[in-house]
Amino acid sequence: MKKEVYYPEYLQLDRILGAQSLESEKNNHVAHDEMLFIIVHQTLELWMKQIHFELDSVLVEFQKPTLDDAQTSVLHHRLQRITEIQKLMANHFDVLETMTPLDFLDFRDDLIPASGFQSLQFKQLEKKLGAYKNHTDEMRSYSRSALREEERDQFEGDVFSLFDGVEKWLERNPFLSWQNYSFETSFKEVIETMFAKEKDLIKNHPFLEKEQKDKEEKNIENMYQSFLSIFKGRSSGLSKEAFLSALFIHFYRDHPMLHMPYQILRVLVDIDQNHTAWKQRHLSMVRKMIGLKMGTGGSSGQKYLHVSIAQSCIFPELVELPSYMISRKNLPSLPSDISTELGFRWR
Ligand code: HEM
Repeated sequence: MKKEVYYPEYLQLDRILGAQSLESEKNNHVAHDEMLFIIVHQTLELWMKQIHFELDSVLVEFQKPTLDDAQTSVLHHRLQRITEIQKLMANHFDVLETMTPLDFLDFRDDLIPASGFQSLQFKQLEKKLGAYKNHTDEMRSYSRSALREEERDQFEGDVFSLFDGVEKWLERNPFLSWQNYSFETSFKEVIETMFAKEKDLIKNHPFLEKEQKDKEEKNIENMYQSFLSIFKGRSSGLSKEAFLSALFIHFYRDHPMLHMPYQILRVLVDIDQNHTAWKQRHLSMVRKMIGLKMGTGGSSGQKYLHVSIAQSCIFPELVELPSYMISRKNLPSLPSDISTELGFRWR
């Protein structure tokens, strides 16, 4: 017979609710706000665990040699869930900020050297998302130094990240080269025509002075060169193929087959932005709470967090994709057989 399950045992509430032990109490001066401080940290660690859980299931699919089309909607759903958790995580700082800097000082010294900087889950998350790839060597070794020996072993080595999965998936887009059609060639032709027109417009402009024309022409040339960089190989970040594929999905997203890939690209940008937003929200709370003081983890505090935020981007190329958007009327037209392939063909 199946054993009956009761709410407290099912949730192991005795363990969870018994896991708040105040350092200030151990040091014989109970600081009221330390309970809030502990609970907010614990809650955020639980949410990080949930993000890891969702991300692991997404990465299993992305790691397969061919992504199962039937799974894309589940993937999107789970990635979307991650964005909601991230937003919720940032909102926790509203509650924590009901604690004042003086309240925090009541127990701050009891915590030293403990700090969120030692959160293994957070570091692993940055690695699994792909943000860690964009960290400098100096940042990596500093971040690693916060971990204990046994945690360092868990943290070592490469992991297959969301960035890796997305890049691999984008590179497999079969429509970039289709029989005689090449998206790269036709997009390049459009860009060349577009910029030649712009340059002509400035050259023959009836009202602009020579100086203004020179300035405008220089701007257009810079923009043109930036577009041309798409077609050159990249030494870091998304590969050329993956980037072209992301552009293709954005341009032709109205075709039924591209609806879901487009939604996935959007949610990835949200994950990227929410990750940075959490770090920025944390920094603004730190500023209010400790000002220019050092962190309990021993870093320079605000200064360290600024540097860390600058390196928190996961998909910089996807975030900057709008720089390479062109209006619908200029889009290179698709061969009719590709248009047919991109439809659902309902009868
Ligand atoms: C009074 C509240 C808080 C203060 C004053 C504070 C302060 C700091 C400071 C100064 C750092 C830099 C490292 C150091 O020297 O300690 C840091 C890092 C960090 N804190 Fe907090 N923190 C607070 C709350 C939280 C909460 C609730 C979390 C949630 C888990 C958290 C997670 C982290 C993480 C993950 C880092 C590493 C960030 C990175 O490497 O970019 N902190 N914190």
